[in-house]
Amino acid sequence: MGLQTRINAAVESAIHVGQSGSAPSKLSDALHYACTPGGARIRPTILLSVAMACGDDAPEITNAAAAALELIHCASLVHDDLPCFDDADIRRGKPSVHRAYSEPLAVLTGDSLIILAFEILARAAVHSPDRAVRLIRTLSHQSGMPNGICAGQGWESEAKIDLSAYHRSKTGALFIAATQMGAIAAGQDEEPWFELGARIGEAFQVADDLRDALYDSETLGKPAGQDDLHGRPNAVSQLGVDGAISRLRDILSGAISSIPSCPGEAQLAEMVRLQAEALTPVPASRAAKAG
Ligand code: IPE
Ligand code: IPE
Ligand code: MG
Ligand code: MG
Repeated sequence: MGLQTRINAAVESAIHVGQSGSAPSKLSDALHYACTPGGARIRPTILLSVAMACGDDAPEITNAAAAALELIHCASLVHDDLPCFDDADIRRGKPSVHRAYSEPLAVLTGDSLIILAFEILARAAVHSPDRAVRLIRTLSHQSGMPNGICAGQGWESEAKIDLSAYHRSKTGALFIAATQMGAIAAGQDEEPWFELGARIGEAFQVADDLRDALYDSETLGKPAGQDDLHGRPNAVSQLGVDGAISRLRDILSGAISSIPSCPGEAQLAEMVRLQAEALTPVPASRAAKAG
């Protein structure tokens, strides 16, 4: 089974848990709408790749971890698009959840997905209580306060932003969760996997800043030019396009050399290289010359 198929099956089965019984139908539909079809699914792809590099000896736990991580990510996007945050009308090429279902249902969709993520991990405790508790602890640490995505979004309400804390918690946190949860799901110590997650997260933020500056809304499937519009500090305004691309390459080569030693190390390095290629945007002037 390919990674995308495995991730999509895990996400579908998790959402199903939140839709059973006599659940209200609009909120049930909105849970599914918010998570499918997915975007790049980069976080669960990294999680599964790390778990597989470490032997993946308990695939049910790995699947639960991948689904829980993606549910938290999707929830963060639903809340991020709300009028009180970024007020975005489109996400992944379709109307954002509050535009499709209403604002109260979007708040509840985000809340429900967050709670469902932890329920999925708690249910995985039947396979290994120890791994499930460590997964819950890692995912909560990287999602809430003081280090997780809540903290990241919270920085946007401060008069003075600590840029590195802002990026590390808004974007980096779920990449650290991805590498560490992959290791935990396969029964390994999570600590050596922190650096790889942090470096991929940093690269992802630079790539996202480049895409925001270089691509249009149709290509992105979400509003473009947001960093400039909201006056947010970003890699392109600080380094220029070429500077940001070369910074991205530097961070990614550091990421590859930080992969801890494990049985599937070479394959994992190849996966990071492939993700890096997919992440690096091609400025239109260069794409035209190449074509
Ligand atoms: C978007 O993340 C949010 C950021 C942290 C910048 P992704 O670009 O991974 O979103 P999807 O899941 O592929 O749509
Ligand atoms: C979203 O950040 C990050 C989280 C939801 C934690 P942004 O607002 O910068 O990302 P996009 O452009 O909406 O995907
Ligand atoms: Mg935002
Ligand atoms: Mg946004």
